[in-house]
Amino acid sequence: MTTEQSRKRLVIGNWKMHGSLAANESLLAALRQGHVHPDSCDLAVCVPFPYLAQVHRMLSGSALSWGAQDLSAQAQGAFTGEVSASMLNDFSCRFVLVGHSERRSFHGETDSVVAAKAQAALAAGLVPVVCVGETLQQQEAGETSAVIERQLAPVLALGPQAVAGMVIAYEPVWAIGTGKSATPEQAQHVHALIRAKLQQAGVPQVRVLYGGSVKAANAASLFAMPDIDGALVGGAALVAEEFLNIAAA
Ligand code: PGA
Repeated sequence: MTTEQSRKRLVIGNWKMHGSLAANESLLAALRQGHVHPDSCDLAVCVPFPYLAQVHRMLSGSALSWGAQDLSAQAQGAFTGEVSASMLNDFSCRFVLVGHSERRSFHGETDSVVAAKAQAALAAGLVPVVCVGETLQQQEAGETSAVIERQLAPVLALGPQAVAGMVIAYEPVWAIGTGKSATPEQAQHVHALIRAKLQQAGVPQVRVLYGGSVKAANAASLFAMPDIDGALVGGAALVAEEFLNIAAA
């Protein structure tokens, strides 16, 4: 079993399509200087592809890790615009997000494509952060559990050894970028379901992050829940102090 099994707190910033060389420079310097609890919390940033070289250069030798927001399921070849797992390795990435809801909704990524991407990441020694979550419509129709189970199924089918090397992120789509986080109890309810599925698959120790309008003000109450092992943070990850305060929570 890999070190991904320890359930040590993990906070990952998802920069989405934000940043510039100049803005990143000060954000990364502040994160590097301000990450003072590396023993209790792993901290990472997942950045746009063009900034991987900058992140590699600025965070090497620090306690922070980094990664990308997507990758190709293919190893190499005629796939214009795609980026492979081995390319991410060239920049010492540790993590790669797969199946973020924005990839699923804007780029038509299906559950099986997401599982194939997770497998490609694992094959290259990267840690895929597999994102799952229901839409508002699905939540209102009482379909949350069914949606999560459907999204997880092809990923869990990769087998316990594969799943042991992953991180799962529960991100209710209605909470992403809306300022309306799930309550700790709402999130815990779904995290317990995910944990039960992981238990059935023989990998109960996989880290399960919550994502969706996490900020310093709500992080501690979310992290107090027994099955929430950290956070995937969008907007609040672009402000060094806010992001560091989430990690400190
Ligand atoms: P948010 O985004 O924190 O801005 O809601 C989270 C995410 O999409 O990963």
